[in-house]
Amino acid sequence: MTLPVATTVTALRATIASWRREGLRVGLVPTMGALHEGHLSLIRHALRKADRCIVTIFVNPTQFAPTEDLDKYPRQLARDLDLAGASGAHLAFAPSVGEMYPDDFATRVKVAGPALGLETDFRPAFFEGVATVVTKLLLQALPDCAVFGEKDYQQLCVIRRLAGDLDIPVEITGAPTVRDAFGLALSSRNAYLSVDQIDVARQLNAILRETATRLAQGADTDEALDIARADLLAAGFRSVDYVAVRDADVLAPWSSKREGRLLAAAWLGQTRLIDNIPVPPA
Ligand code: PAF
Repeated sequence: MTLPVATTVTALRATIASWRREGLRVGLVPTMGALHEGHLSLIRHALRKADRCIVTIFVNPTQFAPTEDLDKYPRQLARDLDLAGASGAHLAFAPSVGEMYPDDFATRVKVAGPALGLETDFRPAFFEGVATVVTKLLLQALPDCAVFGEKDYQQLCVIRRLAGDLDIPVEITGAPTVRDAFGLALSSRNAYLSVDQIDVARQLNAILRETATRLAQGADTDEALDIARADLLAAGFRSVDYVAVRDADVLAPWSSKREGRLLAAAWLGQTRLIDNIPVPPA
């Protein structure tokens, strides 16, 4: 069956209201489309918590810097609808840019705390764009739960914080990163990589796993992170934006007695890859 699509907030809310009248629980999976197995796992995750799942498909311009890949970001709505429908989604919300940001749109949501550092050091406006669009999507749909991938771990922490701080009555759930057989985290941006680059990209997770093991065994943090940076460059990454370990809950500085999260962003040619993995307490 073809997945129904709402393109306006009014149509989205009308469908949700009919589900609410039946007493159904609603789950939301925000995406920018170009769906892959990682997104489809978020849909399945949502369906374990809710009776109905809405997948949103919107390439959000406010989270791209002028120098970034907004224009070339893959757009494949028909394919996305087939994949989302086959994974059990009940509705797609695919608004236009004008529906989300009318000409007189004048509001931005800015989160501090977990949004500070890491991605923000390299993409200063990114989380403002993400926080603004996610706040809108949550308020448009008012779902019982919303599912985001741990692949974008800092984003997940930022969204948890904004939903809590703004008293948006939704359960924010993180779902594990889906990887290929060689550990590469699935990402829509992997489509930009050549076959040779994919071999290099797979080293990112391997190097993070070695580093997490060193940290869990009590290695000096700065030394372990320096080795990771050098290993990434030696593997063929063009440059490394960051390799850092933070407290897993709030992304504050890490104490080795607590669960940590090791996060990295590195460039392969013109493509920027991110990944992260847990670091068990020492
Ligand atoms: O992770 C993404 O795909 C996007 O940042 C999100 C959460 C859908 C907001 O545009």
